[in-house]
Amino acid sequence: MDDAMKTPLIEASGLTRNHSARPGVVAGIADLDLRVAHGEFVVVQGASGSGKSTLLLLLGALSRPQRGTLRIDGVDLGGIDAAGRARFRSESVGFVFQLFHLVPYLTVHQNVMAGLPDGRMDHRQGAEEADRWLRELGLTDRRQAQPATLSAGERQRVALARALIKRPPLILADEPTGNLDPANAVRVLQHLEDYRRSGGTVVLVTHGAEADRFATQRLRLEAGRRVDLVPLSTVHPSLP
Ligand SMILES: Nc1ncnc2c1ncn2[C@@H]1O[C@H](COP(=O)(O)OP(=O)(O)OP(=O)(O)O)[C@@H](O)[C@H]1O
Ligand SMILES: [Mg+2]
Repeated sequence: MDDAMKTPLIEASGLTRNHSARPGVVAGIADLDLRVAHGEFVVVQGASGSGKSTLLLLLGALSRPQRGTLRIDGVDLGGIDAAGRARFRSESVGFVFQLFHLVPYLTVHQNVMAGLPDGRMDHRQGAEEADRWLRELGLTDRRQAQPATLSAGERQRVALARALIKRPPLILADEPTGNLDPANAVRVLQHLEDYRRSGGTVVLVTHGAEADRFATQRLRLEAGRRVDLVPLSTVHPSLP
């Protein structure tokens, strides 16, 4: 492992983005500390409104912290301008959004190709790579479709293909299995795990328990704050 791999991929300290103006109330996240090593699969859980998407938007440089420090892939995200954040997003993260954010006037195939950073591959290579991902995710027959004609589960898989085609150091996925049947949900998680094994790092938001077996770290949010999981033995002293 070289030195760059030994430093954590993500280091956050006191990270705060609070949308609430009321004192003592957190809508977003507050004072969050987080360290994620290269090759981790972080599972983020918490009730609706607990701050999961707010955290992912910060990690993806789509929003800026109000307080605290955030360093990802060697970049100090608090200290860079909009152009720097755009470069970071293009080079360092693949995002699978909770609401997909596919480009409505592009086909499925073009949406997946749009995940490739400029100059990474020539057009023909990119087109082949997009087809490969569509095959992998069972979307080949929807290749020419427009996003508006897809089911929610199909949209989610297109969004995943768009993130995977880039092979970024970090994939942020916000409930990517939320609209999927159990078989497709497991397929999506397995693709994220394969990507992790090939050198990637995953931060996944999910309500389901299916991802637990892939987790290297679990992060639970309650009203914007990190609450570490209590070992079962403290709750049930009879358990080991
Ligand atoms: N841009 C914003 N402006 C004002 N309030 C916001 C904004 N974004 C989020 N919030 C509020 O912050 C809180 C956390 O929202 P967030 O989207 O992070 O929750 P979540 O944990 O992802 O929930 P869900 O499981 O429903 O997706 C909520 O109370 C939400 O209403
Ligand atoms: Mg959310």
